[in-house]
Amino acid sequence: MSEGPAGWAVPLYEAVLDATGVREGTRVLDVGCGGGGFSRAAVARGAQVHGVDGDPSAVALAAREVPEATFAVGDAADLGDVGPVDVVGLVQLVAHLRDPRRALAEAVRVAPGGLVAVTVWGREQDCEVRAFGEALAPWLGPRRPPPEDGPDQLADLVGGAGLRVVSSEQVVCAFRYPDEDAVVGPLFDSGIGRHAMNAAGPATVRAAVLDRLERHRDGDGYVLNNTFRVLVARP
Ligand SMILES: C[S@@+](CC[C@H](N)C(=O)[O-])C[C@H]1O[C@@H](n2cnc3c(N)ncnc32)[C@H](O)[C@@H]1O
Repeated sequence: MSEGPAGWAVPLYEAVLDATGVREGTRVLDVGCGGGGFSRAAVARGAQVHGVDGDPSAVALAAREVPEATFAVGDAADLGDVGPVDVVGLVQLVAHLRDPRRALAEAVRVAPGGLVAVTVWGREQDCEVRAFGEALAPWLGPRRPPPEDGPDQLADLVGGAGLRVVSSEQVVCAFRYPDEDAVVGPLFDSGIGRHAMNAAGPATVRAAVLDRLERHRDGDGYVLNNTFRVLVARP
């Protein structure tokens, strides 16, 4: 559900909450809420929060983690009778959607006159997690070039949904791994990690990954700095 180690997204959540002015009583909808990380950060500012996610296990986890908020299973493309709210957060969601414009249109519908915040990963060269892919490259075969994901593309997406950009910023989030197992373990659960292990065996792959990560070592662990984009828009 999360895209990195525990706690990595706190600066991203705070940036979204600052950019949208969330405070006591603000009605916030967290679309694609996952385990409720962004919801928890919004609740901490006194917001009234409702979260929606397509994955029932994510919704159950969020409900356990953030009892002050309400959660429901739902689809970003059809939010039903949710709202009205003041702020809609689509935090690390749009890259997972077949039709992001539809989700933005839904966000506008449930937040008439409100703000819509969208976050996405930054450019590949600004994200040190690319080290994993680079380490595994010998076993992954030819790679498609990364998608053109410049700031304009996100602005185009938002503009195409009839929204006007209010603010756009970049946020660096540190992915902190306390030790070697913490940095290698999740990779071995991923599709590319399993593919490489099947080809070369776990010991070879582990050695390659740790060798590539050596430049990111921090004490016993590792720190990888990754850039994310936060765009806030209104109808
Ligand atoms: C990368 S996670 C982000 C979770 C959370 N926003 C966070 O920042 O930790 C993406 C989430 O979007 C959810 N999701 C994907 N497609 C969805 C859809 N069409 N409608 C609602 N949720 C969706 C997934 O189930 C997952 O929990």
